[in-house]
Amino acid sequence: MIIPKEAQSSAAVAEHYDELDPFYREIWGEHVHHGLWWTGRETPDEAVEVLIAHLAATLALRPGQHVCDIGCGYGATAEWLAEHHGVHVMGVTLSSAQLRQAERRADGSPLLQFIRQDWLTNTFEDGVFDHVFAIESSEHMPDKQRFFDEAYRTLRQGGRLAIYAWLAHDNARPWEERLLLEPICREGRLPGMGTEAEYRAWAEKAGFVVDGFEDLSRKVRRTWTLCGQRVAKKLLTRSHYRRYLLDAHSRNRVFALSLLRIWLAYATGSMRYGFLTAHRPSSLA
Ligand SMILES: C[S@@+](CC[C@H](N)C(=O)[O-])C[C@H]1O[C@@H](n2cnc3c(N)ncnc32)[C@H](O)[C@@H]1O
Repeated sequence: MIIPKEAQSSAAVAEHYDELDPFYREIWGEHVHHGLWWTGRETPDEAVEVLIAHLAATLALRPGQHVCDIGCGYGATAEWLAEHHGVHVMGVTLSSAQLRQAERRADGSPLLQFIRQDWLTNTFEDGVFDHVFAIESSEHMPDKQRFFDEAYRTLRQGGRLAIYAWLAHDNARPWEERLLLEPICREGRLPGMGTEAEYRAWAEKAGFVVDGFEDLSRKVRRTWTLCGQRVAKKLLTRSHYRRYLLDAHSRNRVFALSLLRIWLAYATGSMRYGFLTAHRPSSLA
């Protein structure tokens, strides 16, 4: 696992999303995850929804099921799943700014609920969810084994886990670690970036049976060209972007540098984007 030189806490992750909230919403929009260019012809807005449709198809969601979105961002994934598949979604985030936006979606919906809670110390009862998924949140968890243990505990027997995660490739060379992966972790508030092998091992140690792994790197990496273009345009046209970057009190401005590093990390193959699926076996199996 790639570990940043400075330890990253859940409090730092929450601060990252709270402080950068206006920028995330202007640059990324309501989905804070990669787009998935399955055919390559999707618009950026379509690509972020294709990723959710990919998740829904894999989980084979059925109306009325109970699903947990670990690290739910602004709740847009939860809303899409409720609208398209009629499932109940419980979304969990560390960020108060994200929670405020998510709660607006939940208003009046019998299917949506959001709370601010640390997944690693969550208060859900055993076996309450039919499915649990995490789109780009496991990277932020300081204790990856506990992330999997909690997913296992809160899933019913036979329930499925699906994870989209930023991964380091299995044998990162020293220069890749020094110039790309370690700074990406530090600047993006990731306490650790695991490899495919580590994710499989954590899942199995928790008790899961791993069903599959897909490397989606080539289908998602266009996200970073788009982000780079959007940020450059904002810097040229919006003075508050320039003020934020130049202000020494902006604790998370360093993330801007990461955009270039992440683009390079995908181009060089140092970073991967993986989709892992697993299920909690039933005790009779
Ligand atoms: C990159 S964003 C992804 C948001 C969302 N999944 C989406 O696709 O739009 C990471 C999310 O993980 C959440 N997160 C990170 N660590 C967490 C933890 N320990 N407990 C709960 N949520 C966490 C953050 O609050 C944020 O909502």
